[in-house]
Parts: sequence; structure tokens; C-alpha cells
Amino acid sequence: MCGIVGYIGHRPATKIVLNGLKKLEYRGYDSAGIATIQNGKIAVRRDEGKLHNLETMLASSPINGQLAMGHTRWATHGEPNRRNAHPHTDESGTVAVVQNGIVENFIPLKKELEARDHHFQSDTDTEVIVHLIDENLRQGHDFVTACRMAFRRLRGSHAIVALSKLAPDKLVAIRLGNAGGVTIGLGDGETFLASDMPAILEHTRRMVFMEDGDMAVITAAGVEFSRLDGTVIAKTETTVAWDPVSAEKGEYRHFMQKEIAEQARSLADTIGTRVDFETGAVHLPDLNLSPDDAQSIRRMVITACGTSAYAALVGKFMIESLAKIPVEVDYASEFRYREPVIDDHTLLLAISQSGETADTLAAMDEARKRGARLISIVNVQGSMAERISDGTILMHTGPEIGVASTKAFTASLVDQLLLAMALGQMRGTLDAAESHALAQALLALPAQAGNVLADGNDFETIVNRFYERAHFLYLGRGINYPIALEGALKLKEISYIHAEGYPAGEMKHGPIALIDDWMPVVAIALRDAVYEKMISQIEQVKARNGTVIALTNSGDARVAALADHVLTVPETHPLVSPVLAVLPLQQLAYHMAVRRGNDVDQPRNLAKSVTVE
Ligand code: AGP
Repeated sequence: MCGIVGYIGHRPATKIVLNGLKKLEYRGYDSAGIATIQNGKIAVRRDEGKLHNLETMLASSPINGQLAMGHTRWATHGEPNRRNAHPHTDESGTVAVVQNGIVENFIPLKKELEARDHHFQSDTDTEVIVHLIDENLRQGHDFVTACRMAFRRLRGSHAIVALSKLAPDKLVAIRLGNAGGVTIGLGDGETFLASDMPAILEHTRRMVFMEDGDMAVITAAGVEFSRLDGTVIAKTETTVAWDPVSAEKGEYRHFMQKEIAEQARSLADTIGTRVDFETGAVHLPDLNLSPDDAQSIRRMVITACGTSAYAALVGKFMIESLAKIPVEVDYASEFRYREPVIDDHTLLLAISQSGETADTLAAMDEARKRGARLISIVNVQGSMAERISDGTILMHTGPEIGVASTKAFTASLVDQLLLAMALGQMRGTLDAAESHALAQALLALPAQAGNVLADGNDFETIVNRFYERAHFLYLGRGINYPIALEGALKLKEISYIHAEGYPAGEMKHGPIALIDDWMPVVAIALRDAVYEKMISQIEQVKARNGTVIALTNSGDARVAALADHVLTVPETHPLVSPVLAVLPLQQLAYHMAVRRGNDVDQPRNLAKSVTVE
């Protein structure tokens, strides 16, 4: 959702904040703004649209100071225009505020403040925070107390940063609920703040992560944490492993392109030293699961959103096959709105690249209340999902900036396979021969992925022929049915082409009516247990004048003879096959979006981390 950056120290603050915002623009790009304190007064620059507009404005009308805060907006309340862009200030220019989240009780608060002669200038919920703080200042409270009193009145989930000309040496930040992370970066005589670490990674790797209800008073010398009731708390500093270069686009045109290309390396890092390739034994020390714990699991629920939920559907196959545990997959956004049957023999696995998706965190809370043990697969170290879990598998892919998730998807598939193997080994359901076979497949995987990505599947011909089509159908079966869903989602997100993923066997129950010579059908037909069935689906499509783009194994002449176009991946173990199968589908979506002239890294209406419900 929205992105926030803050800085206080000895360097030009607005420049550092603007650069930080550039790294966070994937979180929202409806408008952007920066506030600082210049010559004792709050100075604000903000504009609608992408960050580039703000940058142009700052170039012609610069502001600077020793502290600054900035915001990229993904609009919830109020149109995405300049008036509603953050930071918001009061009429007298005493206080400025940026928010990520929603003030649920902003209407009664606004009425109350208007009755006290506060005049609102925007349609946003955020502006009530400004006036609440200002009201407390008018009543004689110091800035920190005024903020604390204001924050106590808010309902909802938020990350908020405030500054005041009355306290020009500090920023005040709070995290309330699951509206998104706030990370404080510690420097030498300077302190940083950001919604996501990539914004400040070039300056420091010393991070402190804020929890729900933590308030931070940030100065150049450091940060003091307290709770809403004023109790001072000590927090632990973490030195993160991410390399600052990994958050840069480098020679690539788009982050998505870079992240697709990085997958050979990110898969190698994900497998890392967790697998003994001789014996097949898997070690996941941060999972915190003993063999007795593993034996006591009666069922698993995997919960996630979007791409992570499609990864979960693949994980179901892996875990049921290797660990013999019944697995249910549930969208996190649906999970808590029914009566999920969960007990203390249920293991809940949450999958989240960001570790901050509001729906996923809410589902985890719900499962915890009902007695489940929580584990998670997350990419962002220190994220809320990691911190509320009993055990975690970190993805090891480095920061994922492209809004369309790619390398985090393949990492989460491998992490689930490792989890399934570890559970199978602890429960005695996975024998040594199969462990060894899987370990060997994992050993070969990074190089195979590298070959798929480097080699010449002919996207140009396919893209030139189909880029103006309005609809695509993706068919898959078995463990590769979720890959059809993911391939279709990638195309939708960045190409804005309607695409539907469907279990191939269900086609005859309805979607077959859609088949004509104008709607391309992408069929995943690998040499696996459902190969013959997929061939028969392709024949059914062809018999109705359909056009087939088949994703098949290299050298498969039978599929090649049937299909109009072919994309290939090498053969591997069936449980590893989805990792390779998704790669050409990511590339296809990428090339299609570029051909259509779309903004691949900032697709319309989307944000990278969905931290509102
Ligand atoms: C992926 O391409 C999407 N942009 C989106 O579906 C994403 O996977 C989803 O919002 C979940 O995010 P998370 O993994 O950070 O929880």
C-alpha cells in the first residue's frame, strides 16, 4: 500500500527521502509528497501521479532541512489528486503527517474537530490525525505527548509519521495493527525510517522493527521506543543480510525482468545448505518443529493471498504426497470470515513475500486464537508474519520490488518442498530413496532454471501474434494446475488481458464453450502422470478451432505436432516441475506487457504489499 520514508541527520534530508521513495514506489503511485522543516517552518511539496511529478516539482522549487518525511500514496479515502496527497498539514503549518492505513473512525473525529474550529483541506482520513495532534498542542501538551494522545483516539490499522515545527529535532512514528511495517534504520549520527527496508538499505543494515502499538521518537542520535501508555521499552537491533545492490535495477529495464532473470541464483540460495544432497536430509532449524511435534500434526491449513495462495496450492500436493498430512488451502481474505475448524493439532502455514499482507496476518491471528501452531514462509526478515510465527522458513531471494511476484513464488515452492521433505522425514513417511531423488532434483534445479531463462523460447512470435487479444485461457492439471492459475494472474496483472486459469479436466464442464479461433489457450502438458489427459485436452481445443500454446518438456514431438506454438522446460522430478513450468509463463506475461506498452513494474491499481483489508 502506501510507502513512507523518514530521515533525520546531518545530510540533506529531502534528497535522502526522495531517493528512498523511489525504492518504495511499488507500494503506491497515485501521488507522492515530502515535508521538511526549513527556516523554522514546515515546507511541503506534493503532487498527484507518479513520483516523477514530485521530483520535477522539487527540482524547480526545492526544499531542504535536516529532517524530512515522504509518502507514496495508494488511495483509499479521497481521490488521488494533489489536495489529497500526503503529507497533510494544518492551516497554521504546525504539524505534518503521513499515514499508511485507514482511520476507521475519521468521520466522528472530523465532526468533533470541526466543531472546535479546525478547518479541513482534504477529503482524506489522514487529515484528522493532523488536527488531533494540533488540538493537543493548542492545549499546551508537548509534541510527543500530543502525538501519543492523538494516536490513542484512532481506530484501525496504521503506520503514521508526524513532525512539527515546534519540535524540529524529531520525527514521531507509530505502528498500530497490521497496516504495514515500519522499520527504523540506525546510522552514525543519523536515523532512517521506512515502510520497507530497500528504501534505506543503501545507508544502513542495522534495523529495528516496530511491533503493533510501538511508538518511536526518532532523533539524529537514535530512537526511543515506548508503548501508547507511555511505558518506555527496549527493542533489539537486527543486522540484515540483504545486499543493497539487490534492491537496484542495474542493467535491467524493469525490476520484474531482473527478478525473473535472478531465479537461478535465488533458487540456489533458497536451497542453500538446507539439503544434504547425498542423503536427502533436510535441515530447517528456524522451523522450531521437533519430530514429536511433526508426529502430532493431524492436518495442515495453508493460508495466503494472490500469488502466494497459488504457491500454497502447489504445496498441498507436496505435503500430502511426502508427509501424508491432509492439507487445506484457504485464501487468507476468506479464512476468518467462516468458522475454520482448527485445533492444537493443526499446523497453520502462512506464505507471504512481504510478511505484511493484512489479510494473511489476520488469518494467522485467527488461527492462533483457535489453538493452531503457526509457521510461515516469508521473504522479508523482521516482518510481522515472521515475528508472530512459532517457526519460519526465510525465502533467501533478496528484495522483490516488481509488483508482480516472480522469484518469491519459485522460492516459496522450493521452501514448501523442503518443508514437505522435512515433515516426511520426521514422520517416517518419506523413505531414503525418494529423499535422495528429490535432493538430486533440487541440486540440478538452479542450473535448469538458468537454462530455461537464458535459452530461446520464442516469445517474440507468440507475443506479436497474440498481444492484441482480449482473453486467454490457461489449462493445467494436477500439481501444475496452480501454475495455470499463476500464469493467468501474471498476464492479468501486467498486460491487463483477461486470463483465466482452469483445471484442464473441468474444461468440458463449461469453459469449452469459450473456445474459438480468437482466444489462445495455454496448455501445460509435461511428461507426468497427467500427460495423456493433457494431450486429450489439447486435442479437444484443436477440434474446436482453438489455438494452443503448449508448455511442454524439451524434445516432446507429440505435443509440438499438436500445438500451434510451443514453450519448453527440461524434465525433472514431478514435485519440482512447477518451479520450472512457471518460468516461461512469467516471461510470456512480461514480454506481452512490454509489447503492449504497459508499465510493468507499476501496473495500474496495484500495490506490492496489500496492507489494508
Ligand atoms: C503477485 O503478483 C501479486 N502482486 C499479489 O497477488 C501478491 O502475491 C499478494 O498480494 C500476496 O502478497 P504477499 O506474498 O506479500 O503476502
